[in-house]
Amino acid sequence: MLASSWLWALVAVCAADLFREEAERIMRVTPVIDGHNDLPWQLLTMFNNRLQDDRANLTSLAGTHTNIPKLRAGFVGGQFWSAYMPCDTQNKDAVKRTLEQMDTIHRMCQMYPETFLCVTSSAGIRQAFQEGKVASLIGVEGGHSIDSSLGVLRAFYNLGMRYLTLTHNCNTPWADNWLVDTGDDKAQSQGLSLFGQRVVKEMNRLGIMVDLAHVSVATMKAALQLSKAPVIFSHSSAYHLCAHRRNVPDEVLQLVKETDSLVMVNFYNDYVSCRQEANLSQVADHLDHIKQVAGAGAVGFGGDYDGVSRLPTGLEDVSKYPDLIAELLRRNWTEAEIRGALAENLLRVFEAVEQVSNHMQTPEEEPIPLDQLDGSCRTQYGYSEAPSLHRQPGVLLTFLASLLFCLCLL
Ligand SMILES: *[C@@H]1O[C@H](CO)[C@@H](O)[C@H](O)[C@H]1NC(C)=O
Ligand SMILES: *[C@@H]1O[C@H](CO)[C@@H](O)[C@H](O)[C@H]1NC(C)=O
Ligand SMILES: *[C@@H]1O[C@H](CO)[C@@H](O)[C@H](O)[C@H]1NC(C)=O
Ligand SMILES: [Zn+2]
Repeated sequence: MLASSWLWALVAVCAADLFREEAERIMRVTPVIDGHNDLPWQLLTMFNNRLQDDRANLTSLAGTHTNIPKLRAGFVGGQFWSAYMPCDTQNKDAVKRTLEQMDTIHRMCQMYPETFLCVTSSAGIRQAFQEGKVASLIGVEGGHSIDSSLGVLRAFYNLGMRYLTLTHNCNTPWADNWLVDTGDDKAQSQGLSLFGQRVVKEMNRLGIMVDLAHVSVATMKAALQLSKAPVIFSHSSAYHLCAHRRNVPDEVLQLVKETDSLVMVNFYNDYVSCRQEANLSQVADHLDHIKQVAGAGAVGFGGDYDGVSRLPTGLEDVSKYPDLIAELLRRNWTEAEIRGALAENLLRVFEAVEQVSNHMQTPEEEPIPLDQLDGSCRTQYGYSEAPSLHRQPGVLLTFLASLLFCLCLL
């Protein structure tokens, strides 16, 4: 009796190792592309973005979920680094501080060229895979970072932004956030305002992925309907398994399926189990559920590492992805489904976004109406309602002179 239970224990251990070995075999060819990592936020808060500080050395960085050895052990081959600024920067220095986070990501690639390759296209990601480097891309988290400006949106694109999360935990003047669905914020745009629709159109034209993590359900539906390309949820889980408004409800998963879009599952305990504790198997439940409702092509990973305080047992840092893949193998996911979740689904969406983009098309120019902007900390140059014109006597005189001239001609 004792001998047979020992034998079973041995069989279980060996099977576990076989799944883990199989996971590593798959990931050596198809490493994971993760949708959302907040290491740049850690570098700001720990070192004020001084990457040359000895303690900030990414080969030995301690106290974070992410460093270079952990990325290597986790077979991370692509990462959307988050250029995140909290909502209290809205209408203040959000643009400047977002630029600084984008600069930090560029400097990471510059300082560790053996590890990171900053890329801006799906072809660039595949190139990094070939070179055995971590394809590094920029996702800007929070529409407030563009300060309601299509010009800033375009400038961010030119600096490498390839997704924009339409809101963080606050409304922008043009898109509503998830707190509208809890009743903590008032609906303002009923999804997307007219200007918000222009933002999405311009993102389609440029080739920026629309990220619907953090937005309200009305915003999800509006963007899914409007976008000419598939969209992503860069770090959101399934509402059906944990009724948190940051998660994606089944009716929206249906739209995700219809549009070939993608949900990259968030590992934050509070979104996985709706409790302080969670484990790897519960994360796998979210992956299973999204696969069941929206199809295996809709599944991805967006761990939210270094952006959250509590992570599931078994997924404590970025080195643990192979254990999650082993669990999916244990649950009979096929190799093709797993390669999809790891990288191919994101690459499919990114390629579709690139296909839809058209830089020959005329850019969106119509600015947001002045009365939709918080004016306490900004000038109003360019708007006809702006007082600046009337305070310049020279301009007024010229105007009067031309008016007189025209009248004389009559
Ligand atoms: C980080 O530390 C390693 C090992 O001590 C060293 O070889 C490397 O030059 C350091 N990198 C940077 C960018 O300081
Ligand atoms: C994970 O947590 C769930 C819920 O608490 C529990 O039922 C399950 O046994 C746990 N799984 C493992 C592998 O620890
Ligand atoms: C996986 O497939 C095997 C063989 O077909 C079956 O015995 C097992 O119950 C399946 N496991 C799950 C979790 O579906
Ligand atoms: Zn987030």
